[in-house]
Amino acid sequence: MLNIVKARAHTNIALIKYWGKKDPHLFIPMNSSLSLTLDEFYTDTSVKWLPVTESDVFYLNGEKQSQEETKKISAFLDLFREKSQHFSPIEVASINFVPTAAGLASSASAFAALGAAMNRLTGLDLSEEDLSTYIRRGSGSATRSVFGGFVQWTKGNSHKTSRAKFIDDASWDIGMLTLVVNSNSKKISSRQGMAHTVNTSQFYPAWVEAANQDLIAIKQAIAQRNFQKLGEITEANGMKMHGTMLGANPPFCYFEPGSILAMNAVRTLREQGYACYFTMDAGPNVKVLCRKSQMKELQTQFQALLPDLTIISSGVGQGIQILESH
Ligand code: ADP
Ligand code: DP6
Ligand code: CO
Repeated sequence: MLNIVKARAHTNIALIKYWGKKDPHLFIPMNSSLSLTLDEFYTDTSVKWLPVTESDVFYLNGEKQSQEETKKISAFLDLFREKSQHFSPIEVASINFVPTAAGLASSASAFAALGAAMNRLTGLDLSEEDLSTYIRRGSGSATRSVFGGFVQWTKGNSHKTSRAKFIDDASWDIGMLTLVVNSNSKKISSRQGMAHTVNTSQFYPAWVEAANQDLIAIKQAIAQRNFQKLGEITEANGMKMHGTMLGANPPFCYFEPGSILAMNAVRTLREQGYACYFTMDAGPNVKVLCRKSQMKELQTQFQALLPDLTIISSGVGQGIQILESH
């Protein structure tokens, strides 16, 4: 039996978004989604058994977390404890190499890393696809972080069938720039935002229909390695997701003034001939899908148009890794 395991998972940015749960308890989504895993942003998480007389503890970036945060983690650990029938308490120590709760997908790398570490610590050693069904129940977007490259989360209709599927390694000149408009933590979490949208937005049924169509089209674009089509579908799908929030009651919005300026900068550079397309998640930051070979030049161009913003460039990330186990 192992005592301690450390795992790494990278974040992923959805090109076809997940925005709404059909089953909030099991994290079954309303639509299938598709993402790109990034190498620049990740989470490292260690898990260690504690004596039975103690209880779960959770450190994030060196700080002991509140009871409320720890309860969320304990509920996730329980899935692995029940499956493996090893019931001891656990110490979780996690470091985010990504801003927490800023719409840069910290929950994706977080639960993928924690799930990967627990999979090894408990000796379950599930395959990546099977493991993704457990990781899903920590945070939906984390399902897709088990693999690198382009990854689909197939919505399914049960715990077992709602899972990650590797699509393509994205090794055809793909990169992503992040235009950091604001890296503070957001006021409305993804979880709250999507639940409110599902419950109140008149546009929601149209979103589900559009996302189903967009997924089929983007998979064709990937199979054909058609970057323009990939980018156009990505940009349009993201905007449709944000449209659902404007149709909610009361309406809400993750855009900030800087987000609009950043999106305009993408359009400007596209008019100048650069192949670049934006997407946004539940936060004000703007991600730009581009050619890896143009990333350096594009970063300079964006910095000139948006001098106040921090710009981070990223290549394609790999799937979950075990860094240590003993
Ligand atoms: P994001 O856009 O960063 O994914 P979310 O609202 O989806 O924002 O999720 C943020 C939440 O994810 C945090 O408030 C915290 O509860 C959880 N989280 C983030 N990082 C970690 C981590 N390393 N380990 C465990 N939970 C984490
Ligand atoms: C806009 O996975 O963070 O980034 O499942 O409730 O933890 P929970 O939400 P989360 O939602 C991500 C929403 C999104 C789109 C996406 O990543 O697909
Ligand atoms: Co999240």
